[in-house]
Amino acid sequence: MSEVLHTSLSGIKDILESLETDSLVIIVDLNVQNLYSKQLDLLNVKGKKVTLWKAPPGENAKNFEEYERCIEFVIEKGIHRKSHVVAIGGGATSDFAGFVASTVLRGVSWSVVPTTLLSMIDASIGGKVGINSQFGKNLVGQFHLPKRIIVADEFLKTLPEDEYQSGLGEMLKYCFLDQEIGNKLKETSNHKNLIDDCMAYKHKIVEEDLKENGKRKLLNLGHTFGHAIEKIYDLKHGIAVVWGIVLIMKMYGSEDLISKMKEFIALLGLKLDLPPWYNKTFQTAEIMNYLTKDKKAQSTNKVDLVVPDSKNEIVVKARTFDEINEDLAKNAEELRTFRLH
Ligand SMILES: NC(=O)c1ccc[n+]([C@@H]2O[C@H](COP(=O)([O-])OP(=O)(O)OC[C@H]3O[C@@H](n4cnc5c(N)ncnc54)[C@H](O)[C@@H]3O)[C@@H](O)[C@H]2O)c1
Repeated sequence: MSEVLHTSLSGIKDILESLETDSLVIIVDLNVQNLYSKQLDLLNVKGKKVTLWKAPPGENAKNFEEYERCIEFVIEKGIHRKSHVVAIGGGATSDFAGFVASTVLRGVSWSVVPTTLLSMIDASIGGKVGINSQFGKNLVGQFHLPKRIIVADEFLKTLPEDEYQSGLGEMLKYCFLDQEIGNKLKETSNHKNLIDDCMAYKHKIVEEDLKENGKRKLLNLGHTFGHAIEKIYDLKHGIAVVWGIVLIMKMYGSEDLISKMKEFIALLGLKLDLPPWYNKTFQTAEIMNYLTKDKKAQSTNKVDLVVPDSKNEIVVKARTFDEINEDLAKNAEELRTFRLH
């Protein structure tokens, strides 16, 4: 499992210096590099040869062209089997850099410095790395656990509000999955107090089920629809996950769960009201089109959905595409006019 280290911005360099390698390949999000180049001073890590790759901000890195450019660059610069890749950025940068680390020279070790709320509580943990295909997100990838996750929450000071909100969206998932996190949310006004709890929860699940054959599937709550919504409506990942959870709860949840969801959303301070499809034609066909290409598809005709059961517990249930299509069509009118407030 990955080791989690909490540090300050200035402490990151000490950790990089202590890594057992003479060669660091640092892949940093361009925005993060521009904001923190002085404090991090990445080109000067004592005792290491540093190869620095500035990745296009966020999602713009997760494609074949960038992957090829970066891989060829680090090979040209002389990466070797004991080189260590360090990803510095949000989830997109760590997905990308982790994928580079997992494939170059058939795999070298790597660590991650998450700089967004979403990557601290989710994307940096669990070793899922990859890039997007033109047909959907994260369709090309690997499992490659980082050696270390180096957390400095000072990075959050410069995070734009919409990106912070996206992280809060991913936190909603944990509130449903772990009762203790849900309860703690009711007692704290500072969401940063929940970062460690979310990290610990995900670590526990990943430890039990790295390759997502069982329990880890629960972490996809809201994601099956969320990935489709993210693409169709061009939303931030965590916000799309919230609307994915809304669809799940509206279609398969009880009134109690819908109230609980509204309460969590309010307590998290998610500034949401109208779904992106509000008062428009509900895009059942488009959603189905993405769903059929989802990695979680179990066969040509079904997918694992994370849904509440009759006891309001969150469980994984395989559902055929025909059934989901029917569920969406049946609820389309109600979904079209649903609002959170
Ligand atoms: N591997 C996993 O398990 C996993 C889990 C969840 C999400 N993801 C992936 O994570 C990605 C989303 O990641 P994200 O939400 O962390 O954002 P991101 O990496 O897409 O970055 C979002 C924006 O924030 C900027 N940014 C990052 N840190 C900053 C900082 N400290 N200050 C100012 N700007 C900063 C970036 O430049 C970018 O413009 C998606 O691609 C998603 O698929 C992966």
